[in-house]
Amino acid sequence: MIRTATRREYLMCPPAHFDVTYSINPWMDPGVPVDRTRATAQWTRLCETYRQLGHTVHLVDPVPGLVDMVFAANCGLVLDSLVYGARYRNVERAPEAPAYRAWFTAAGFPSVRPPEHVNEGEGDFAVTRDLVLAASGFRTDPAAHGEAQEFLGRPVVSLCLTDPRFYHLDTALFVLDDDTVAYYPAAFSPGSRRALAHLFPDALLASEADALALGLNSVSDGANVVVAQAATDLIAQLTARGYRPVPVDLSELAKAGGGAKCCTLEIRR
Ligand code: ARG
Repeated sequence: MIRTATRREYLMCPPAHFDVTYSINPWMDPGVPVDRTRATAQWTRLCETYRQLGHTVHLVDPVPGLVDMVFAANCGLVLDSLVYGARYRNVERAPEAPAYRAWFTAAGFPSVRPPEHVNEGEGDFAVTRDLVLAASGFRTDPAAHGEAQEFLGRPVVSLCLTDPRFYHLDTALFVLDDDTVAYYPAAFSPGSRRALAHLFPDALLASEADALALGLNSVSDGANVVVAQAATDLIAQLTARGYRPVPVDLSELAKAGGGAKCCTLEIRR
């Protein structure tokens, strides 16, 4: 099977102020020190990887004190140049929302919406050709799913996450190409699992070990899949299906519960 890559446009934020100073998910332990130099080297590698694959990467200025701002995926959902902004669940991250919206406004996006309902952007939204997959359970309010559908004009499918280790949709599922996804079924409620099986009969199903390696926090351009290097079974499955895994090490950022996808917001014009 020949896979076709399409050029992507991403927004990222350097981890200049990255740290774990509070705990809002089970991965975060403020007692475990963070090596910011190492985090920066890993993040820089990720950024260079995208550029080498031919993608465009924009950078937003990091704000002092916002230790999780490196996780750009949470700042919104961008489709047809419409920017559905984030509203963070936790007060610690709340100031990230206006900082990111300001970037989009300055970059000339005509419609930048401060949302009414709590939602953590692409942390809990994923886009296939026809659908927006949306999660609730830990962060995003289900009311935001309807708000996103109304604003973006795309059908939104609501899913429910049930395992706190997989607190955002992008820790449990990623979009491989226009019609297929990869996911870890046990992260979802029984009804959500059946809905996913119905929508994506050919989905790649990942193991718990691969999910815990943040292997589902991957970024695919339709052919190349930037994936956590520790997710070895997933990497083998991707290869078997004709994708080209591009392994990356973001172990320092994993101390905050984030991987490659968390650091990457896709801009869809
Ligand atoms: N520490 C951050 C939080 O818990 C990590 C966010 C990771 N981002 C993501 N898209 N999953 O909010």
